Amino acid sequence: MNLVIRPIEYSDAESCGKIGYEAHKAISSAHGYRSEQPSEDFGIALIKSLLDNPNSWGVLADRQGEILGSIFLHEFPPSPVAVVGPLTVHPGAEGGGIGRMLMDAALTQANKQNHDQVRLVQSPSHIRSFVLYTKCGFTLREPLFLMQRQPLKKSDNNTSSTNVRIVNDDKDVSVCNGFCKLVYGFSREMELRQAKHQGIATMIEREGVITGYAAGIGILNHAIAKSNEELKALIANAATILGPGFFVPARNYELIIWLLENGFQIGWPANLMTIGPYQEPLTPFLPSLAY
Ligand SMILES: CC(C)(COP(=O)(O)OP(=O)(O)OC[C@H]1O[C@@H](n2cnc3c(N)ncnc32)[C@H](O)[C@@H]1OP(=O)(O)O)[C@@H](O)C(=O)NCCC(=O)NCCS
Repeated sequence: MNLVIRPIEYSDAESCGKIGYEAHKAISSAHGYRSEQPSEDFGIALIKSLLDNPNSWGVLADRQGEILGSIFLHEFPPSPVAVVGPLTVHPGAEGGGIGRMLMDAALTQANKQNHDQVRLVQSPSHIRSFVLYTKCGFTLREPLFLMQRQPLKKSDNNTSSTNVRIVNDDKDVSVCNGFCKLVYGFSREMELRQAKHQGIATMIEREGVITGYAAGIGILNHAIAKSNEELKALIANAATILGPGFFVPARNYELIIWLLENGFQIGWPANLMTIGPYQEPLTPFLPSLAY
């Protein structure tokens, strides 16, 4: 079918963004929930922001000048994990193997970058993407729900919030990194530093020992804590929830019921899928849209 996989140029952002919007609209409207890409402008801005990110790599599928889909791969140094997404194919071109070609290109790139761990967050109502990812070697690790509402006010909730404080300096970052290595097996320093820079990274210390941190609370942010009580405190103390909500592992009954009782709604389901070595986080956690 004369299809070429090539790097995405800035001038391709509009076409790729429109396809992202159309592809997600088709899925979300079929299942009756809000689209991950709510407008064309959102889709285009997303592609532009990824093209501006030195840690993101993107290619598109081009058939004789007609763009049919695109994919991105992201690094989070020093984390060993590479992350795929978004992957979108024009609804009119689905079923032609384009998704597979784009994914093969991203996995080849991950291999070139020496990442043996590749992860993504999948939309489970879309059987086609689940099949594609499974055939490409991804394993389903964790079903998720995106939880949505305005930030909790202190008076709204019954958590003990006394020990939650902002991540202030390099010493705090190093303490959080140490905790992350215990829980994940590696540090997520880049994401933590970005959150610190934005003033949204928080941590909990009890008697000088770290028991949790949040690199912000939101769809692009992750958090880990020794117990659900501490995770609840990190959520309850978030001044802002970034983006449309945050992901919670669907198997964490205690956290989900607490969120529902505090007025959160479930926005949409998702699946964390992985290739390569995977250590399930050793404590309660909130994954980001990446992993
Ligand atoms: C997901 C998406 C990228 C797939 O693109 P695509 O070009 O249609 O994918 P492909 O044709 O390469 O692969 C789909 C595979 O699923 C298979 N498949 C689809 N439905 C199936 C089903 N119900 N049971 C078994 N296999 C199924 C197809 O046969 C194909 O496998 P094959 O190549 O071995 O025959 C595209 O549908 C899309 O953009 N969707 C909207 C956005 C989205 O959901 N993105 C992913 C977010 S997680």
